[in-house]
Amino acid sequence: LKEDDAYSVCVQNSVQHLLDQAIKLAYPNNQNLPVIITPGKTSDYQCNSAMPIAQKLGQENAESPQNPKQIAQTIVQHIPKHPIIDSVDISGPGFINIHIAPTFVSKQIRKILLNGALPPNINSKNKKVVIDFSSPNIAKEMHVGHLRSTIIGDSIARLLEYLGYNVLRLNHLGDWGTQFGMLIAHLQDKFPEYLHNSPPIHDLLTFYKTSKKRFDDEPDFQKRAYQNVVKLQSYDPDIIHAWQLICEVSRRDFEYIYRELDIRIIDRGESFYQPMMEIVVDELEQKQLLKEEEGRKVWFLPGITVPMTIVKSDGGFTYDTSDMACIKQRLLDEKADWIIYVIDSGQSLHMQSVFAGAKLAGWINETSDVRIDHVGFGVVLGEDGKKLKSRSGEAIRLRDLLDEGLQRSLTKLKEKERDKVLSADELSKAQKSVAYGCIKYADLSKSRTAVYEFSFDKMLDDRGNTAVYMLYAYTRIRSIARNAGIKEETLKQKAAEIDLDFETDQREFKLAKCILRYSDVFVRLLDDLFMHALCEYMYQLATAFTDFYDKCYCIEKDKITGETTINYRRILLCEATANVMKQCFEILGIQPLQRM
Ligand code: ARG
Repeated sequence: LKEDDAYSVCVQNSVQHLLDQAIKLAYPNNQNLPVIITPGKTSDYQCNSAMPIAQKLGQENAESPQNPKQIAQTIVQHIPKHPIIDSVDISGPGFINIHIAPTFVSKQIRKILLNGALPPNINSKNKKVVIDFSSPNIAKEMHVGHLRSTIIGDSIARLLEYLGYNVLRLNHLGDWGTQFGMLIAHLQDKFPEYLHNSPPIHDLLTFYKTSKKRFDDEPDFQKRAYQNVVKLQSYDPDIIHAWQLICEVSRRDFEYIYRELDIRIIDRGESFYQPMMEIVVDELEQKQLLKEEEGRKVWFLPGITVPMTIVKSDGGFTYDTSDMACIKQRLLDEKADWIIYVIDSGQSLHMQSVFAGAKLAGWINETSDVRIDHVGFGVVLGEDGKKLKSRSGEAIRLRDLLDEGLQRSLTKLKEKERDKVLSADELSKAQKSVAYGCIKYADLSKSRTAVYEFSFDKMLDDRGNTAVYMLYAYTRIRSIARNAGIKEETLKQKAAEIDLDFETDQREFKLAKCILRYSDVFVRLLDDLFMHALCEYMYQLATAFTDFYDKCYCIEKDKITGETTINYRRILLCEATANVMKQCFEILGIQPLQRM
């Protein structure tokens, strides 16, 4: 590990690397001894390897019981000298406490000041990630579950893009299948001229409901609906045209949501996989993986009780079939190194089946190191603990939900009399940033697998770990230098020149080290893709900042002469905090503001 390497990987990984070397040097005859590094309680990092190593060595040689404390000492003696580490001590039964060096901290802070919070260097070059998120269904509404998938998926995609992966963001729209049979039949009846004039459908949901009712009540209609499905799947031009018209209406609605929430995504719905489905079915039959059951072709997978239905008794394909064709395409055509599905936890059995199927079909071989994740999440409930509904008892339309957020955020800003200080343009930017920021942050700041209670009152609170609190904290920090009349160029110049010795003041040093931890956090997120760890970190950073700012004056006024002195070291620490916060907001998909 060369000195400069330490700056391009995350700090925790650097420490891990050094301890790994130490353990290898101390026990050259033992392979694979555990290297366990965690953030420390009394130090910056802690290595807890001595205890399991003692156990392992003791088991191998029963005659010589091992003392963890001695092992810890041996490891410490072998830690290579490196500028990242200041001192090391041992406590308790054999914990190794590692303190990082003040000069290292200063160097890193200077980098953050000069270049922003650059990504830690991880092995992501040329690695392709396919992330399947949002994925609403055409004609049915886009509901709050899809909103969660949209927010979580976008944030993961932003993280991976920042870390240097090549990310393909895919919207696996429900744009194929039986519901189109009846939608098209209804369209043909209501707008027979549809081939020449686009029908004025504004409310596709009502259109869907009426056609569903007719489907249930009118046998003739039902028959035509089924015929339409067959025609659709064989690409009958008139039927395809009708299908496109219907998809277009839904897309307009979805696009509004994506534009408002600043989501980039490429449409690639289930229909895309129709030609591949037939090939996949043939392949599975040839490999003798399917079984006939009451006219259906099903696929039993090891360890999973419910089989997938690959071909229905009427010969049609299912959600299972399309997801098998889809995963094959992502593995073999896209050549993805990593596939991520952001879908509610209710579909976890389906996902497990699809992953098991891909292995069994031989699309993932023993030696491949493709990573596949189902990023599941819990259901959304209203404040009454029941399924989220609108006042009239209907399912909530996403558009209405966003509108309500905008309304409420404006009220909040007016309560704080921000309308009196901000320009109209600033106020409208603040309104959006608060509204959408709080909807995203409320979702991302809680463990995604938990049930999620949707409450505007809670998310718009300006105390605690909320978007409003964070956004204000950021704006306040950014205003410190501005209010002191310090120019941007002066800050850059000072950042390059002045001595950044934070160590003499413990509160400065503590904040500086908290700032550095950002790279640790980003890298750790890759393990389980639980984004709330990032919000927790932001909250810790904001708290560390408050502790520092309450007690350390950045600008001091002489009581007698009235002269002010600027402490640039501290002002720069404020700027570095803001730079890192800005990057965190960027990954959460939230727009922070200079003024609000
Ligand atoms: N359209 C589906 C739904 O609303 C989600 C699709 C998720 N992606 C997938 N490859 N199955 O439940």
